[in-house]
Amino acid sequence: MKIIEVQDEQAGGKVGFDIFKEALANDAQVFGLATGSTPISIYNELTASDLDFSDKISINLDEYQGLAGTHDQSYRYFMDEHLFNQKPFKESYVPNGLAEDMDAETTRYDRLIADHPLDLQLLGLGQNGHIGFNEPGTPFDIQTHVVDLTPSTIAANARFFASEDDVPRRAISMGIGSIMKSKKILLVAYGENKAQAIAAMVEGPVTTDVPASVLQNHDDVTIIVDHSAASKIKNRDLITTIA
Ligand code: GLP
Repeated sequence: MKIIEVQDEQAGGKVGFDIFKEALANDAQVFGLATGSTPISIYNELTASDLDFSDKISINLDEYQGLAGTHDQSYRYFMDEHLFNQKPFKESYVPNGLAEDMDAETTRYDRLIADHPLDLQLLGLGQNGHIGFNEPGTPFDIQTHVVDLTPSTIAANARFFASEDDVPRRAISMGIGSIMKSKKILLVAYGENKAQAIAAMVEGPVTTDVPASVLQNHDDVTIIVDHSAASKIKNRDLITTIA
């Protein structure tokens, strides 16, 4: 794992942007994308740039079950707003939260991922160590699946909804098995509330209790953190600091 500590989210956005740029230069075709507040500064850098994704494919990690893509808290809406409207891809896939047959939807998504192997997967990090919506306890080899969100994730995401009651209780998520097949992985985390999960992910045992710890088993992972998110990593030698 390569850990890069940056000053703040803006600096992290620039470092993340460079990793996207390098992937493009290396002929990456398929980009796994993430939602949440964390990737926004990278998306801002991408939309302000002249990088061209119009012949590339994006596959998003997850979507709330029950929200239409037009709902302003759906992940499809988020992606349109923060990236795709300004920086279109040839094809952009997000799970369909309104699919009537969820088994068929998860199968469809797995086929998509199999047909378009991920070159670069961008990840945020849940406070409980989740990646995508792969909550603690999720098997490492799982493929796309429907998830019951944990109370801590529902509480963490309530800030985006009128009230906690409005947060969907279920989601569809790309599985850890698919994330791990991406050629390259970029995980980004900012703030004190991610510090525990970052330390457990980097220095703790590889355990399904901390889904992100599986990334220790991947050979091309870059982690961008700010000072707060890095504050609980004990071995400072692991960290490259960018002033
Ligand atoms: C949600 C998403 C994750 C994201 C996490 C952290 O639960 N499913 O993919 O990484 O939130 O979000 P934020 O970046 O807003 O802290």
